Amino acid sequence: MQDIEQFRARRERLLARMAASGGGVAVIPTAAEVARNRDSHFPYRFDSYFYYLTGFREPEAVLVLIAGDNPKSILFCREKDVEREIWDGYRFGPEAACEHFRMDEAAPIGELDGRLPGLLADQPTLHYSMGYDRAWDERIATALNAARANTRSGVTAPHAIHDVRAELDEMRLIKDAHEIETMRRAAAISSEAHRGAMRASRPGRFEYEIDAEIGYLCRRRGSQAAAYSSIVASGPNACVLHYVENDRRMEDGDLLLIDAGCELDGYASDITRTFPVNGRFSGAQRDVYQLVLAAQTAAQAETRPGNHWNAGHDAAVRVLAQGMIDLGLLEGTLDGVIESGAYRQFYMHRTGHWLGLDVHDAGEYKLAGDWRTLEPGMVLTIEPGCYIRPADNVPEAFWNIGIRIEDDALVTKEGCELITAAAPKQIDEIEALMRETADAAF
Ligand code: GLY
Ligand code: MN
Ligand code: MN
Repeated sequence: MQDIEQFRARRERLLARMAASGGGVAVIPTAAEVARNRDSHFPYRFDSYFYYLTGFREPEAVLVLIAGDNPKSILFCREKDVEREIWDGYRFGPEAACEHFRMDEAAPIGELDGRLPGLLADQPTLHYSMGYDRAWDERIATALNAARANTRSGVTAPHAIHDVRAELDEMRLIKDAHEIETMRRAAAISSEAHRGAMRASRPGRFEYEIDAEIGYLCRRRGSQAAAYSSIVASGPNACVLHYVENDRRMEDGDLLLIDAGCELDGYASDITRTFPVNGRFSGAQRDVYQLVLAAQTAAQAETRPGNHWNAGHDAAVRVLAQGMIDLGLLEGTLDGVIESGAYRQFYMHRTGHWLGLDVHDAGEYKLAGDWRTLEPGMVLTIEPGCYIRPADNVPEAFWNIGIRIEDDALVTKEGCELITAAAPKQIDEIEALMRETADAAF
């Protein structure tokens, strides 16, 4: 059961921020439904900004906030409709939504366009995410023009449009207690799913069987969806960063890289584990795996309050680049391969991103040109990797080894806590888990 108060508290914080910058009105629509083909739709997912402020999951809804001496939250939503509810299910309707979601007012969505010019009238600023959705930009422009058309009767239209995401992104960057609790639960479900994937993997099975196992394990514990398309990549596929076909037969000797995480009550988890399909790391696989793990440990040590965002990435790159030299993948000095960027042949992405309602969550990485400083309550991923495609300059023993290890880190007062630590990642833990399963199968 969701605590609805948390959403009202966030609206109040946004309203206070708006008031502090001169007041105005905010218009925050939820996401549109998207057709998949003919009359079938993709599963509906609300807009993250809208949800953050409302907790309301139905499509066709808009939140209007009016800052000032009498701050007000108005929800526009679908009306009750007995006929449609027989086909599509329950709708709150404005009256019940107003009460349940603790709004000051609620009205049918069909009234929005007619009321917007009046709501914009005599407001100094419109807080709106211009450019985020073209169809909404058009509707907002129409409402602004209608408000301006009334200037001869003494009405003024907003003179400024301020991107409401600037405030919301900053708020979303520091997770509150409710968000952290939900993210811990999402992380626990996904960690258990990765354990299940390790148990289920063996030569001869197909990647999609493991994909299905993960989906099943997440859904059965209440996750509503995958936070992103699962990557279940065996053998050479592990070196394809955005591989999502998940249809290859897994062979003895392959590594399997799984990047999968569930969404729970709107919040994402994001975990990658890499392990041998046959349950035992080969020599070269072991060497590269230990290198990536050491890079992750180095990045984790730099993930603490006061350090800047990029410190973890810099630390991971140094460890990886040195390891690539030691393994004979690169020639030259550590500073040389970092400066030239030669390490990017095997490590071409960054070491993390913010995590929250969106898997690549809201929030700036730099402020006024400088990397931003980490603070308690931020959540980010730590996900170094090493991807070795067949190439002339690479010893054959390393070909097609693709490894990433990804955890979700909550910045704490002292450092950081990996909330996905229950997914095994030490070589002996993984091998022991897979051995148990193989023994049980015979
Ligand atoms: N799964 C998406 C990412 O790791 O960024
Ligand atoms: Mn990630
Ligand atoms: Mn990931």
